[in-house]
Amino acid sequence: MEESLNIGVLISGRGSNLQAIIDGIEQGKVAAKISLVVSNNPDAYGLERARKHGIPAVVVDHRMYSTRQEFETVVIERLNEKGVELVVLAGFMRVLTEHFLKAFPLRVINIHPALLPSFPGVGVQAKAVDYGVRFSGCTVHFVNEGVDTGPIIAQAVVPVYPTDTGEILADRILKMEHQIYPKVIHWIAERRVRVEGRRVFVEGAKMDEEIAHIEPVA
Ligand code: GRF
Repeated sequence: MEESLNIGVLISGRGSNLQAIIDGIEQGKVAAKISLVVSNNPDAYGLERARKHGIPAVVVDHRMYSTRQEFETVVIERLNEKGVELVVLAGFMRVLTEHFLKAFPLRVINIHPALLPSFPGVGVQAKAVDYGVRFSGCTVHFVNEGVDTGPIIAQAVVPVYPTDTGEILADRILKMEHQIYPKVIHWIAERRVRVEGRRVFVEGAKMDEEIAHIEPVA
């Protein structure tokens, strides 16, 4: 495998995406090394996951800082100490400002549980069900100053069924999150991802011939 990319993963909670990335690395499918996990929440279960796999994990509790900038400065320092090249947001519930993004230009990615630009923000799986869309999914994107507005790297689509609740749909989407996030990190590690304005190109990506999906099937 080629030289591995040094990544830092920022979490706030459960950390199931962190786990998917750890598993991908351990299985040799992702050419990356998690140099540090940072949680703003001391009770995040993801911290345990990191420790179980011998990955350094620290808490930077945002409540200890009076401004966003002070909080971010500490996170930047921790990441830089470990030589982090790519910052991976995995259920990280703080909005990052320009101050942070300038420290890692086009080097911060996020996963969002909807098909952006539809349903940015939080609680979006239930919003998709309530809206009545027939498809939803997840989006991996570069982070910019907006909320869930950065250039899109990859998306996965799932159907929304009449019997769905927000939780049922969230589970269906989460399975796809766990598939696409490790893949994207691997593409970035392989230096195959290029950004031109809002458009992101993945070198060597195949074009799927099967282009039409209809829902409901009736
Ligand atoms: C995921 O649904 C992700 O899309 C969103 O926050 C959730 C994090 O889940 N940004 P986990 O902590 O990775 O389990």
